[in-house]
Amino acid sequence: MASLSQLITNPPCTIKRTSPATPSCPFLPAQARAPLSLCTHKRTPAISCSAKNQNSQNDNDSLNRRDVLIGLGGLYGAAAAVNTKQAAQAKPITTPEITKCGEANLPQGAVPTSCCPPASKKAPKLFNPPGLDTPLRVRPAAHLVDKAYIDKYSEAIRRMKALPADDPRSFRQQAMIHCAYCDAGYKQADFPNIELQVHSSWLFFPFHRCYLYFFERILGKLIDDPSFAMPFWNWDSPAGMTMPAMYTNPRSPLFNVFRNPAHMPPKLVDLDFGDKDEHNASHDNFSDSEMVQHNLRIMYRQMRTNSSTPELFFGKPYRAGGPVEPGAGSIEGIPHNSVHDWVGDPEQPNKEDMGSLYSAGRDPLFYAHHSNVDRMWNIWKTLGRRNVDICDTDYLDASFLLYDENAELVQITVADCLDSERYMRYKYQDVPIEWKDMKPKVKTRQTRSLRPKSTLKEAQFPLVLDSPVRATVRRPKTNRTELEKLLKEEILQINGIKLGRDVRMKFDVYVNVDNHETVAPAVREFIGSFTNVPHKHRHDQMDMGIETSIQFGLTEVIDDLGINGDETIEVTLVPRNGVGKVTITSITTNLSG
Ligand code: C2O
Repeated sequence: MASLSQLITNPPCTIKRTSPATPSCPFLPAQARAPLSLCTHKRTPAISCSAKNQNSQNDNDSLNRRDVLIGLGGLYGAAAAVNTKQAAQAKPITTPEITKCGEANLPQGAVPTSCCPPASKKAPKLFNPPGLDTPLRVRPAAHLVDKAYIDKYSEAIRRMKALPADDPRSFRQQAMIHCAYCDAGYKQADFPNIELQVHSSWLFFPFHRCYLYFFERILGKLIDDPSFAMPFWNWDSPAGMTMPAMYTNPRSPLFNVFRNPAHMPPKLVDLDFGDKDEHNASHDNFSDSEMVQHNLRIMYRQMRTNSSTPELFFGKPYRAGGPVEPGAGSIEGIPHNSVHDWVGDPEQPNKEDMGSLYSAGRDPLFYAHHSNVDRMWNIWKTLGRRNVDICDTDYLDASFLLYDENAELVQITVADCLDSERYMRYKYQDVPIEWKDMKPKVKTRQTRSLRPKSTLKEAQFPLVLDSPVRATVRRPKTNRTELEKLLKEEILQINGIKLGRDVRMKFDVYVNVDNHETVAPAVREFIGSFTNVPHKHRHDQMDMGIETSIQFGLTEVIDDLGINGDETIEVTLVPRNGVGKVTITSITTNLSG
C-alpha cells in the first residue's frame, strides 16, 4: 500500500490522455493536464469524461471532449459517474426555449411583474469563448477602486438603466434574469411540469458566473470598453466589510433605496446574520474588531472545514426530472444567503430588494456581492488537494440561456465556465485573504468521559424545530487514522429539511456543547447553519414547499475537539429564524471522498 507521503505528493492514479479516464480515479495528475493550446474548447452536444461514454458519437468526438476536460486542469470524479444510473440516463438541466418562460411565483406583497426576457428572433448560438489572446480583465475589490473607475462603472450602469425596458441588456431585464431562474419562470426543457431552479444545488456557482459574465460584457459594450471588469464586494476581508462606498451615494446610479438603513457604513457586515428579530443578540454587542474576528472565523469554517469535498462546496447534484433544490453548498448558505438577508430592507414586505431572490437583481450591489461569491470558487480551488471541479456529465452539460452584449441569445453550459481565466478571460484582483488560517477556537477540548452534557430534550424524528433540541448521532467510524482522514471526509448530513420556500429560515448546528447560549458565536463547536432566502410563494393548487438537505464537514472538528475515539456525537439544533416552520427527517453521518 502506498505510504501517506506518497499519497499526498502523488495522486492515487494516473490518467493518460490517450485512454479513457479510469473510473474511481477522482484526481487528475498535473502531468496529465493538457497544455493550454489543447484547451480547444470545442463545443460538443454532450461533453463526456469517458471516451466510451454512451453520448459519444464517434471516437474523434470523444477525444475532443476528453482533451477539453483534461485541459481544465483538475476535475473531480472523472468518470466516476460513468456506469452509474444517472450518467446512463444523462439528465443535465437545460433551459427551455425562451418563449416558454412563464409567470413566476412571486411572494405575497410583491408588485406583480413578469420576469421573462423578450423573445429572440434567432435561435440561440452556442457560447463562443474569448480567445486565449484576449487580455485578462481583472475584477477589482470595490473598496480599492479610484474615482476614475467609479465614474466609469457608474456611467455604464447609468446607460444600462437608460436602455429601453424591453432591451434584454437593460438593467430591468438583467434583474429579471434572476427572478426567472429562481422563482419558477422556467420549467425544465424536458420536464415541462418541473421548475428550473438555480439555487440549493451544484448549479448555484456556474449559473451565477454565467449571468455575471454577460452582465459585465454588456457594461463594457455600453461604455465601449471591452476590457471593463466589474467590481467585487470584498466582504471576506476586514477592509471590505462595510457596504462599499460607491453604492451608498444617493446620487449614484449604483444606489438603491431598498436596503437596511441600519446597515449603512460604517456598520460592518455580519457574515452569520439571520436572527428573526433582525439581529443576533450576541453579535450586537460586538466591537468592530470582534466582528472582524468573527467574520474571518466564519469564512474559514465555510471555505475550509465545510468545503472539504467538492459536493460540500458546490452543493448536491441536481438532474433533470430529479428533486429540485436537493441541497446547497457551504458558501451558498453562509455567507451568500446571510449577506442577502443583511442588505435587504426589513421595512419592505419581503425584505426587498436583496432579501428576496425575485427582487435581488434590482440592487446594483447584488452584482458585486455575487462577484465575490464567484471569487470564492477560484480561491477554493487553490486551497486543497480535493478542491477540484465536478466532472459529471449532468453537471457539465447543464445549460442556461442568456443574452450577450449584442442582444443575441446564447446557450452557455457549465463546462464553458469552469475556468474563469481560460474560458472567460477574467480574474480577480489579488488582495489579502485574512481568513485562510483563522480556524475557530475550541471552547472545550474534550474526552469521552468529560464530554459536556446538554440538558436540552432529545429530538424525536420527524422533528418540528420549534425550540433548541439535541440529537445523539452515531459516527461512521471511530479512531480514524490520518490516512483515512486524508482519503475521506466525515460528514454530518441533516436530511429531509422541509419548509415553505417563502419562509426566511436560519437554524444553527452545534456539536458537543452543554449550553449553546454560553458559547461564543464562532467557536469550533458551532459547525454551521441552514439558511433559506425566500424565493417563491405557494402557488394555487401546487405545493411549493421544499425538501432539501445540508451537510457539514466533521473531520477537522472531531480532531480539534479531541473526540476521534467517540462513537457518537451530540448535535444541538437551534432555530434562529422561521422557528417552528421547518421539519427535519433525520440526521446522519457518512464518509465521502
Ligand atoms: Cu441567485 Cu444571490 O442569489
